[in-house]
Amino acid sequence: MFYLGIESSCDETAAAVVSCEEGRLTVLSNIVASQIDTHRLYGGVVPEIASRAHAEAISRVVRQALSEAGVTPAALTAVGVTAHPGLIGALLVGVNFAKGFAAANDLPLVPVDHMRAHIAAAYLGEEIPKPPFLALAVSGGHTSLYRANDYTDFSPVSATRDDAIGESFDKIGRLIGIPYPAGAGFDRLAAEGFLRAAGGADMREAYNKFEKTDTYKSGAYALPSPAMEDGSGDFSFSGLKTAAINLLHRYEQTGADFDPALFAAAYTHRAVEAVVKQTDLALKRNPDCRSLVVAGGVAANSHLRARLVALCEKQGISLFIPPLSLCGDNGAMVAAECHFSYADGTRAGDDLNASASDGI
Ligand code: KG4
Ligand code: ZN
Repeated sequence: MFYLGIESSCDETAAAVVSCEEGRLTVLSNIVASQIDTHRLYGGVVPEIASRAHAEAISRVVRQALSEAGVTPAALTAVGVTAHPGLIGALLVGVNFAKGFAAANDLPLVPVDHMRAHIAAAYLGEEIPKPPFLALAVSGGHTSLYRANDYTDFSPVSATRDDAIGESFDKIGRLIGIPYPAGAGFDRLAAEGFLRAAGGADMREAYNKFEKTDTYKSGAYALPSPAMEDGSGDFSFSGLKTAAINLLHRYEQTGADFDPALFAAAYTHRAVEAVVKQTDLALKRNPDCRSLVVAGGVAANSHLRARLVALCEKQGISLFIPPLSLCGDNGAMVAAECHFSYADGTRAGDDLNASASDGI
């Protein structure tokens, strides 16, 4: 069985072919045309530019995915396309292309939810997590925990009430001069900060010692936790973001010495510990979930990855985090999700439309 996955929800035009044999999913091709260099000039994604760039790239990207995989359209089992959530104009390019492609080749078309697809990136490894499991989705638009009762049956556990974690890294990163998207640069700068604050050369040790360092105790970069304290397990990243903006203004006004690496470390520590805390709570509240899937662009964060490894080891939970190459937006995750939705009987009607809002 071969699945073609098409993704165009934000700033990557992507297509991939994934095969399924004896329950094992294998990536045969995975083509990603990134628009990041274009959007970087504006400090963020410009929706209309994104749509135009998708329209330009999509035929080439799909053709390349099929030819690299050595699979003809006639050999495909189904076509999966991201239909929600995302930028509407960007989504429409992929949805319309997929509708035409599926109709021309007489193939079933499956609408795919972008967050389910991120979660499905974890199905592309040696082993597939067994439901029920917990899924932590951390991306530019999401900070959510879900309970997967099955591969196509998710219930929400907790989520951010305002900004998403990736969006917050991007916005605060921009203010300290990290180019868009700031996540990876923020990650590296924070690493420098942890090592500087704690001394020594062992990153994990430095991170774990952070709250005992003079930097932390001095309160020079004191920030609030984005974990809600009301027992809901939810997040609020806008409070952390506003406090960070105020802190940056204070440094600017007073002219006091500002160390971007220590600031990035303090910010990252708050963000990561909040995610770990709410994930821990969700695992405790769902004791039948013996696996944790981590999904989305922020799953690439080295500090978060290390803390989740430690959390799962402590709790005896199997951890599924995709390799860095599958954390960001890609077509392989769409094809993987398409496999399960297709098996479940999900099909797009002739009237399939894109939707900017959440599905899951
Ligand atoms: O999943 P994704 O590619 O797109 C969305 O669906 O939003 O996630 C993109 C987000 C951006 O906010 C980016 O800054 C963030 O993932 N990101 C990271 C890292 N790499 C990418 N955030 C923290 N640390 C990273 N290493
Ligand atoms: Zn995404």
